[in-house]
Amino acid sequence: MKDEGRNPTGSFKDRASSVVVARAREIGAEIVVTASTGNAGAALAGMSAAIGQKAIIFAPKTAPQAKIAQLLVYGAKVILVDGNYDSAFDLTIEAANEFGWYCRNTGYNPFTAEGKKTAALEIWEQICLNLPNDSRPLNVFVSVGDGNIISGIHKGFKDLLALGWLKTMPRIFGIQSDKSAAVANAYFAGNETIIPISARTIADSISVDLPRDGVRAVRAAVETSGAYITVSDEEIIAGIAEIGKYGIFAEPAGSTAFVGLKKALATKVITAEDPVVVINTGNGLKDVRAAMMSVHEAPVIEPTMASLKKFLEKNK
Ligand SMILES: Cc1ncc(COP(=O)(O)O)c(C=O)c1O
Repeated sequence: MKDEGRNPTGSFKDRASSVVVARAREIGAEIVVTASTGNAGAALAGMSAAIGQKAIIFAPKTAPQAKIAQLLVYGAKVILVDGNYDSAFDLTIEAANEFGWYCRNTGYNPFTAEGKKTAALEIWEQICLNLPNDSRPLNVFVSVGDGNIISGIHKGFKDLLALGWLKTMPRIFGIQSDKSAAVANAYFAGNETIIPISARTIADSISVDLPRDGVRAVRAAVETSGAYITVSDEEIIAGIAEIGKYGIFAEPAGSTAFVGLKKALATKVITAEDPVVVINTGNGLKDVRAAMMSVHEAPVIEPTMASLKKFLEKNK
């Protein structure tokens, strides 16, 4: 497991936002703006706060409370839209064009993928270099919304291959909820045509109608002999508790990648002997409501030995 929930603002998006904020500083941008399901915005807000950069975040008003709290606490200007991520995305581009703001939008600003590819550089350093010479290729499992993370990771591996530092291209598996599967649909259809859908998965971070980096996201799987796999929201929720037993607290989008691995094993797309890395892209604290759906409520007892003994007797 590669746990990106431990990044400074709790998600994979820190990789992209840190590079974008550095770029904003380089070009002297006064205001950086992004549309976000929550994590990209939290990352941009956090990174901006760290260097005194002004940031504006557009997010759906339905984003999990913890993500909205992060945006506000980091002091960004937060504008919630009465619509979905896709509508926030379009509004952000329009506003950036009109007001001259520097736009970080995923799949729109090329620097996001440059930041995200650093995960591939780390996977190479931490895992690939330690694989035996005769090893089967590494299999990378990652969840997909806009498709920018998977594209960035693919780019990182391509760069390493071009440098001659990576011997074998890892197989990249993109995992989507079956309620937000625009990229997987194109992969299953055997083409690169991304047809917009009406996304409504509980995994809010990957709930996207029209993936903005869909074409490259399809290629990441096709060109590496990976695949797309879809999983149900019920499996995603159950996966949060399962992955927790390995010491990883994941938000639904992180659990999605793990559940995809389970499905790949069950359908013999990979074997138990194949080396694997699952990327948890977001911390479970980002969406406590979803986390609580994956477990039973804890019992409440009187703070006495008598009631504890009674409880233990009943729950042997
Ligand atoms: C936790 C988490 N996982 C996965 C993704 C999907 O990344 P992408 O939209 O680049 O496919 C996101 C994007 O917001 C995310 O926040």
